Amino acid sequence: MTQSIEVHAAVYRGDNGDRLTVEPLLLAAPEHGEVRIAVRAAGVCGSDRHVIDGEWNVPLPAVMGHEAAGVVEAIGAGVRELAVGDHVIVAWHQACQRCAECTGGKPWACMRVKSNDSQLPDGTTRWQTLDGDAAWPYLAVGAMSDHIVVPDFAAIKVDERVPFDVASLIGCSVGTGYGAVVNNAKVVAGESAVVVGAGGVGLSIISALRLAGANPITAVDVTEEKLEEARRVGATHGLLGGAELAESVAALTAGGADVAFEAIGRIGTMEQLPGLLRPGGRAVFVGLPPEGLELRLDALQLAYDGKTIIGSNYGGLVPARDFPRVAAAYLSGELPLDDLISSRVALEQVNDAFDAMRRGERTRSVIVF
Ligand code: APR
Ligand code: ZN
Repeated sequence: MTQSIEVHAAVYRGDNGDRLTVEPLLLAAPEHGEVRIAVRAAGVCGSDRHVIDGEWNVPLPAVMGHEAAGVVEAIGAGVRELAVGDHVIVAWHQACQRCAECTGGKPWACMRVKSNDSQLPDGTTRWQTLDGDAAWPYLAVGAMSDHIVVPDFAAIKVDERVPFDVASLIGCSVGTGYGAVVNNAKVVAGESAVVVGAGGVGLSIISALRLAGANPITAVDVTEEKLEEARRVGATHGLLGGAELAESVAALTAGGADVAFEAIGRIGTMEQLPGLLRPGGRAVFVGLPPEGLELRLDALQLAYDGKTIIGSNYGGLVPARDFPRVAAAYLSGELPLDDLISSRVALEQVNDAFDAMRRGERTRSVIVF
């Protein structure tokens, strides 16, 4: 168990535009409290695209991907709750588990998180290039690698009846969307909702809104094709985005929605969000914009109409609690998660999958190993 193994991974080096290279790397054995996972599926997520399009900085070279599901293959010393052969979903926001936020049920607010900097909790990495340089797992997962090492608490056991491709999405886009609805917005049955952006995250929000009993559920995107996908997972109405959006939403919701979600990460649509709400409504920012930008909001409208802005990081998830809940809702047929996957591709096709995302073509590509 002390041996490194050779793995194949999609690596971003930052010296060849937005292209990733699929290359062999060395992965060290799991240390105390860590597990090695044979990755079976890795989702292609918008957050990876932010990095490889140069919008967010991460340590390089980076092993890309952060939505992973697979099988526990080796366990380090001191791991008690996982066994070889367990099916697991990986959490990318790996909180410290000890601080006031973590023990108070808000691990997403942990201030000791290292995973955001692509580091394991001890500040190091288990990957290196064949030249001996450190390679850094994006968000401490590095899902686009056929094997990964993560802390045991980041590997959440999942019912084996959940297919790996669906399970991988629960680790990020689906979990984020579900959590934004249930944990952040606390949507209750009968509330009206608008979701701006019907990509992987937006569709996950819509399917969770249907589960929560929201009505009507209005999806907003830029193509009819995306609106059709949104209807398939639970949207009751679809609108093409644009300047008239607030009027159209007001007409559908008798004056404005109870809750609105931005699931793109664009400043323009984030600024539009409060205007889609009725007085007392909640605007939930789920999409993550490029670094260093500012918002312009109507201050009087926010105060006078008592509107709330809610920032949503990882859907306020408590992974060990929420991943099994999402999996159970999938298995009972209440969450149509198969419909969120538009294509399954090999690791070698990773650049094509990101190109398709940039063209706005595919809902969710999943890399299968
Ligand atoms: N108005 C409406 N919809 C738009 C607009 C616009 N101006 N611009 C883009 N969109 C739509 C796209 O057509 C696409 O369907 O937004 C959707 C974005 O989806 P994806 O590219 O699939 O991204 P996704 O993986 O869903 O992530 C969205 O959430 O977690 C974050 O980092 C992630 O910031 C990213 C966001
Ligand atoms: Zn993601």
